[in-house]
Amino acid sequence: MKVVSSKEDLTEIIDQLKAKKNSIGFVPTMGALHDGHLSLVERGFKDNSIMVVSIFVNPTQFDNKKDLDKYPRNLESDIKLLKKVSKDKIIVYAPTVEDIYGASVSSVSFSFDGLENEMEGKFRKGHFDGVGTIVKRLFEIVQPEFAYFGEKDFQQLQIIRKLVEKQHLNVKIIGCKIHREASGLAMSSRNSRLKKEYLEAAPFIYKTLNEAKKKFRKMSAQKVTKWVEAQFAKHELLKLEYFNIANVKSLKTLKRKSPKQKYRAFIAVFADDIRLIDNIALN
Ligand code: PAF
Repeated sequence: MKVVSSKEDLTEIIDQLKAKKNSIGFVPTMGALHDGHLSLVERGFKDNSIMVVSIFVNPTQFDNKKDLDKYPRNLESDIKLLKKVSKDKIIVYAPTVEDIYGASVSSVSFSFDGLENEMEGKFRKGHFDGVGTIVKRLFEIVQPEFAYFGEKDFQQLQIIRKLVEKQHLNVKIIGCKIHREASGLAMSSRNSRLKKEYLEAAPFIYKTLNEAKKKFRKMSAQKVTKWVEAQFAKHELLKLEYFNIANVKSLKTLKRKSPKQKYRAFIAVFADDIRLIDNIALN
């Protein structure tokens, strides 16, 4: 497996592969890989002969310095996991902060037509500017035909679609289903930091989302939201940051149901100091 850290080396390898008519798929990650990431890479091989996986903990998308410092990093075990998918058709791009940002570690300010102001945008200042900056930069370096993103970060996925549309980037974005543990907990690099009692408590998040989905058939979004808030108010370990039922396109909070629109329920929860997010399609 090729592991490169400089963009010049990566560009050279990709140019050679493209000259031989390979199509390049891309999975950007922040490392601490799990089966969810591997499933994105496997999905990518349906459309592409070569997959590039970037491993880069992007400082500009963290609004919390402690979260950035504690973010799990282990390149060796990430490479080992990727080898389970393919030993010779994956290129790992693991740049340094300097390679990506040069001397100035800062993000560009984007407008994503208001998508950036909902949910995560309210609680994580500057987060989507950081995501937009790094994803655009990585697309420019990797020049993939397709890029794959998980629906766990559904707001991020919609924002990246908007980024591609507004910046006229030449890449097709593929959204992939959430990968879950047997317990229902959405797979996340952050799960590895959960202490035992919190790991055992965390499947409550998906269980509550499923119950909310059932209630949504008969109840208003406001009533379902109140019900979810009450469930978490009673919970001893998990602290709800937000629960929100929103339109999948605008990401705006649902006021009145329309049979023609698609909705999702979104949730952010603190388990100790670890922030977990999840979402579920409602119709
Ligand atoms: O979803 C992630 O892991 C990150 O936000 C991404 C897309 C790799 C950008 O740093």
